[in-house]
Amino acid sequence: MRHFTPINGQIMVENVNLSTIAEQVGTPAYVYSTATLTRHYKVFEQAVSGMDALIAYSVKANSNQAVLSLLAKLGCGADVVSGGELTRALSAGIPADKIVFSGVGKTEAELRAALEAEIFQFNVESIPELDLLNSIALDMGKIAPIAFRINPDVNAGGHEKISTGRAENKFGVDIADANIAFERARNLAGISANGIAMHIGSQIDSLAPFASAITLGVDLIKQLRAKGYPIETFDIGGGLGISYSADDTPPPNPTEYGKLVEQLTDGLGLKMLFEPGRLIVGNAGVLLAKTIYVKQGGARNFLIIDAAMNDLMRPALYDAHHDIEPVVTPAPGTNMISYDVVGPICESGDTFTQHRLLPEMHAGDLLVLHSAGAYGAVQASQYNSRPLVPEILVKDDKFAVIRTRPSIEDIFKTENVPDWV
Ligand code: LLP
Repeated sequence: MRHFTPINGQIMVENVNLSTIAEQVGTPAYVYSTATLTRHYKVFEQAVSGMDALIAYSVKANSNQAVLSLLAKLGCGADVVSGGELTRALSAGIPADKIVFSGVGKTEAELRAALEAEIFQFNVESIPELDLLNSIALDMGKIAPIAFRINPDVNAGGHEKISTGRAENKFGVDIADANIAFERARNLAGISANGIAMHIGSQIDSLAPFASAITLGVDLIKQLRAKGYPIETFDIGGGLGISYSADDTPPPNPTEYGKLVEQLTDGLGLKMLFEPGRLIVGNAGVLLAKTIYVKQGGARNFLIIDAAMNDLMRPALYDAHHDIEPVVTPAPGTNMISYDVVGPICESGDTFTQHRLLPEMHAGDLLVLHSAGAYGAVQASQYNSRPLVPEILVKDDKFAVIRTRPSIEDIFKTENVPDWV
């Protein structure tokens, strides 16, 4: 699902040449496609159209205001995990009644702000959180609509750092304690507990873990209803994987996923909530970078580029694979060379890939790291005093800078030197 294809010897994003963006904005830079974002949202919307569904895009995947505004116009809701994300979602025009609030450590101020905004649902992850929310709601004269996030103890596979649905993970209420949680909620005047929520992990590449978790969820809903709890919503989180490489087994497509969910929840009259993140934005963006040096090391060829681990952390943090491709299509017969593609940061972990076979590259050559729209810009830092990487949104033959590159002075302008230094 990419709108990033070589046309006449250059990778285009829709009808914009990446070289033009590099000239005008500089590199490194994230570049997103409006058409791809829109298509991904519509494909997902279609896939769940047979259900009473709320698509709550997981803002953490890419929280740029332009991206959120685009999704808001398409009718999308939001899954937020902080007061900051809540404010972003609301100011991008996502209506409060399409917002769910997840996260294990919601603070009093965040709960208050979400109650004030009258969001659709709090996904409560513990009894202490429930009690705090109740007391704030009572104080404000409100009733908080909640679902309990249940930890179904399902292994969704994938990288350990992004698995969330096993008993040893910090997330949710243990499925065995769900009854206790609902019992407690029933006695709290500031709480209306109407649903369950789950999110078992990310970049999940098969339907099996979803089927297990949803089956457990449906059984639980039936048991809870039998005890008189009015369960009306079932939030099955996000997690559906995307293709990072043509060599991967293709992940299940949204249509198969939608059919599975529909089939497993059929006849229950539930409002279904979905929290896709990566699926919407992952393959809608690339990280555009430039080769600084090609260096022959003692044992390796290093392609030293101007993007680094602070700009795209995924390879350093999760050993994640991103396809890498020169912007200018190499002439036929160009040598293929095995490169370690690295950034300028002073850590060996600042490596995007090792032993990657790429067409021979030269200083100044532009390249892209594909599938960088999700968990790219949002996880960037200013390590090594490298300015936050800018973001660009393309539509047809036009583009806009949707996050500007700060100046070096911007980086330290919030720092103060006390007069006793
Ligand atoms: N809902 C909840 C409660 C979540 O915690 C997440 C992601 C999502 C939805 C969206 O999941 P998605 O559809 O994007 O898989 N930084 C990591 C991924 C961390 C995912 C955290 N939670 C990465 O770069 O792979």
